[in-house]
Order: sequence, then C-alpha cells, then structure tokens
Amino acid sequence: MAFLADSIGRIKPSPTIAVTDKARALKAAGRDVIGLGAGEPDFDTPDNIKQAAIKAIMAGKASKYTAVDGIPELKEAICRKFKRENGLDYKPSQITVGAGGKQVLFNALMATLNPDDEVIIPAPYWVSYPDIVLLAGATPVAVTTRMEDGFKMKPQALEKAITKQTKWLIFNSPSNPTGAAYTRDEIKALTDVLVKHPQVWVLADDMYEHLVYDDFEFFSAAQVEPRLYERTLTLNGVSKAYCMTGWRIGYAGGPEFLIKAMATLQSQSTTNPNAAAQWASVEALNGPQDFIAEHNRIFKERRDLAVSMLNQANGIKCPKPEGAFYVYPSCAGTMRKTAPTGKTLATDEDFVTELLESEGVAVVQGTAFGVGPAFRISYATATTALEEACRRIQRFCGNLS
Ligand SMILES: Cc1ncc(COP(=O)(O)O)c(C=O)c1O
Repeated sequence: MAFLADSIGRIKPSPTIAVTDKARALKAAGRDVIGLGAGEPDFDTPDNIKQAAIKAIMAGKASKYTAVDGIPELKEAICRKFKRENGLDYKPSQITVGAGGKQVLFNALMATLNPDDEVIIPAPYWVSYPDIVLLAGATPVAVTTRMEDGFKMKPQALEKAITKQTKWLIFNSPSNPTGAAYTRDEIKALTDVLVKHPQVWVLADDMYEHLVYDDFEFFSAAQVEPRLYERTLTLNGVSKAYCMTGWRIGYAGGPEFLIKAMATLQSQSTTNPNAAAQWASVEALNGPQDFIAEHNRIFKERRDLAVSMLNQANGIKCPKPEGAFYVYPSCAGTMRKTAPTGKTLATDEDFVTELLESEGVAVVQGTAFGVGPAFRISYATATTALEEACRRIQRFCGNLS
C-alpha cells in the first residue's frame, strides 16, 4: 500500500511469533499440537517476584508515570547485578530500562544508525536484529557461521566483515537460535580484532547469560576486554532467567551519552516501562537466585534428551549447544524427500510446514534465522511434551520417502 511508510516494507512480522500463533490457532481448532516455537520458559514467575509487584501496586507505587528509563531502585539493582555477576562498573546514569530487551535494542539501534551504517550480525541470528537495523535504514551484514564450528564466528570472519561503515557488532552469547555460547578465550579472540577498529561498537546481548549448562562459565564482552568498555552496550533483562517474558523489562549499561539518547527516544515513544513490573524486577535482581540453578538442571536434561532423540531421526543432525533453551538441528538430510502428503521437501520451510501438518509439531524454519536448511526447537516446554514431540519428529523423518 502506497499509504504505508517505506520502512515498514523493509521488515516482516517475527516468524517465531507467527509459528506460535499458528500452533495456538490449530490447538484452538481442536488439533493435538505441540508447540516448540516459543522463546520463553514454561516455568512461572517465582512467587517472591509476583508478590513484590502486588505490594508495589497496593502501596500506590505503580499508579503514576515513573522516570522514563527506570526507577532509581531498579537502576541500582542493575548496577549491583553488573558488578556482582559480570565485574562491570556502571553508575545509575549509565543504565537504561525499557519494555523488554527488545525495546532496549530498538532504542540503541534507532538512536545510533544512519543510512550508510552497517551492523555485523553473526548468523544464525535472532530474527529481530536484521529487521530493526533495516527499519533504522542501515544495512545488516550477516556473517554466516558453521555447524562444524559450533555456530561460532571466527575472528578472521569478523575481520573480513568490518568496513569503515561498520557501526556495531551484535554479539549474542548464549545464542538464540543455536544455543551456542562463547568461552572467554573465544570472546578474547574476537575482541582482539575489535580493538583494532575503533569505529565498531559492541552490542553484547547477554539475555541468556544464566542459561548455561555443564559448568560452562559465562563472560560478557566488556568484562573480557576492558578496552572495549567505552564502546560497548551490555544488554540484558529479566525475561528469560527469571521467567518474566510477559512483564516486559529489559535493561542495558553503557556510555552515558548513548544511554541519554536512548532515553530521549523512549520519552517520545512508550515513556516509562510498566511501573509494577519494574518493582518486580527489583526483587528479581536483589532476591534469591537459587531457582535458576534448579531450572537449569531441568533445561539441561531436556537439552540432552532433545539432542539424543533428534540425532536418532533420519536425516537430522543436531549439535549439543552450551546454553539458552534452543537446539538448532540441520534437516539437510531430509531435503528432496517426499512427505506423507505427497509434497517434496525443497526447503526447511517445507519441512516445518509438513511436520506441523503430519505430526502437529510446531518448530521454526532455520532460514528465518539466516541459516538453513535447519530448524529451531525451543525445549522450554514440559519434558513429557518435548519427548513426545521428538518421537513425532523421528516418525515424520522415518516416513519420508
Ligand atoms: C537473543 C535475544 N535478545 C533479546 C531478547 C528480548 O527479550 P525481551 O524483549 O523479551 O526481554 C530475546 C527474546 O527472545 C532474545 O532471544
């Protein structure tokens, strides 16, 4: 439609949300569907966090606008978190809070990108990165990683992608959609490259920081290379580890001038993030953290179950990632085979469509994340449902001819 802005034509609806909606609609129509598309924990928000919100509401602390980019109590809790968990020193004036990590990312990119700018995004990537860059009128530069390398970007590949126009590297570890997490040494190898290119900033998306398994030790980019501190935005949030996706609170720490610009942008869009959710987030960050380890024990079991069962499916190859709650199997071995409906599988989109059609299992096609033929499974779902879904995938692959 000519009436719509050019910018809207550059982006598409989030494919992960599209799959979740499709699975929900099929379920509502009475189909037996297992949804493995959603990027959110199946666990409920811990009670102490919910109570903190209720208390704030009843005390009248949630009735009014708050400071645009976060209440002081939350900014202080975030500063303490960065120090305690990442060894990073930020002052409250260097902290911004938005309606989810996504808004914080959006603010950062919108506040910094001009039309000639490039943003390096290792692929497979979280679907929102390239689209927000496109919306801002800049150019996403995908650096494709390989399954053989654990879906991790090599320093040489980063070096090659950097140009004079490069403004940001978006660095997401553990990764959505692959679950790949970089070790300290792997991060250092990349930051050694970045140190030589002062025009490049790092957007460290640490959203899945707490979700790592097998004693994997998480590091944040500015922690590994303090020389990058002045040009790093460290992004995080309560959505994933604290089971608070619905509350919509994300945050970041970074240089004051950038934080200020992001607040200006937010002041002209959504104003402050939800007040009760901010108080809940204070409790999330300051309160007991032990439930995270308990959840991780369950996530790890599910990861191992999914990897083992998927590797037993004909034509599927599934690496075992270090973190997040996703696995990213290749379905290259099923291409050109024929599904029970008679359809020949030419793309991973065909694979996920036929899988949903034949077996009622909803997953997201890899091409949506920039690398296929593959698909993403979120194992943040009940273990019994996950096991049944993997059994159905095995059956689906076994029935291909
Ligand atoms: C890599 C990554 N970053 C950031 C976010 C944003 O999280 P939220 O906006 O729900 O806080 C997500 C959510 O899926 C994600 O996967």
